[in-house]
Amino acid sequence: MQELTEGQKTFANDIIEGLSQTTKQLPSKYFYDSEGDRLFQEIMALDEYYLTKAEESIIYENKQDILESFIGTDSSFRLVELGAGDGKKTKILLEHFMDQEIDFTYSPIDISANVLTILKESISSALPKVDIQPIAGDYFKALKDLKKNHLQKEVVLFLGSTIGNFDNESGLKFLKKLGENMTKGDLLFIGFDLMKEPDVILAAYNDKRGVTAEFNYNLLKRINKELKADFDIENFIHYPTYDPISGETKSYLISKKKQQVSLNALDKAFTFEEWEPIFMEVSLKFSQSSIQVLAQEAGFKVVKNFRDSKGYFQDSLWVKL
Ligand code: TRP
Repeated sequence: MQELTEGQKTFANDIIEGLSQTTKQLPSKYFYDSEGDRLFQEIMALDEYYLTKAEESIIYENKQDILESFIGTDSSFRLVELGAGDGKKTKILLEHFMDQEIDFTYSPIDISANVLTILKESISSALPKVDIQPIAGDYFKALKDLKKNHLQKEVVLFLGSTIGNFDNESGLKFLKKLGENMTKGDLLFIGFDLMKEPDVILAAYNDKRGVTAEFNYNLLKRINKELKADFDIENFIHYPTYDPISGETKSYLISKKKQQVSLNALDKAFTFEEWEPIFMEVSLKFSQSSIQVLAQEAGFKVVKNFRDSKGYFQDSLWVKL
């Protein structure tokens, strides 16, 4: 085996572990190398991918209502954001809060210091007066540190239906742990993609131009590059499914034939049966009752729900009990 860096070793181990399961799977966090980031930007701009546009319209249409719910009877608050990305949706709120001369601090949390530097620059140039205090690191560790010095109400933003990328059990665990690192009376503003006409959901994960397929194939290409593997993209089809009972939208790459794939950097090989799937990602779609139950079980109470005009997406405001 050739020399690998620590990061490459973790990547290699996670890929091997995933491909060694009875149902082969690949961890979706590895979709986002630079080409993956670019493809996801392209996905967000697609007509079929309604999620980002729906949530953006919710925030835009309800910015005053959201502001009043955030501030309540307090005179100031700290807006904490988990995984802000490019901050496009958040900027709508920040701009409105500044216009209304609200006293608040904005603390985006991200594991990547690089992402935060870019975000800070982009926000400071658009809205120079925003008091922005980014925190690089683990979400829970950052929240725990903030809790120790809790001088004002905290409002946690968790946008984009990221919670849907967990399965039910780990999603609840995540929210419980989030609550443990918040203070009674703090707020959580969290995005949920809702159950809807199955064809609308399937189109969002299987666009006509094939960008989402390419996004999935890109992970195989990344493995080819970084682990000297020989996945032949032509030998796999991209196949998403939606289950209207559980709300699970799953993406698969399915092997068209019996084949062997070698990971030459690791001296490992994997055999695929004809039509054997690799499970790539789950995106849960929620019902009103599943959101209520989740809030309750995680130790929160639903204060208010905001939906887009088509009823596709919902941002839900919860208070920590
Ligand atoms: N996880 C995000 C979502 O559910 C991003 C995404 C869009 C995605 N299409 C995908 C992830 C296809 C994996 C495969 O919307």
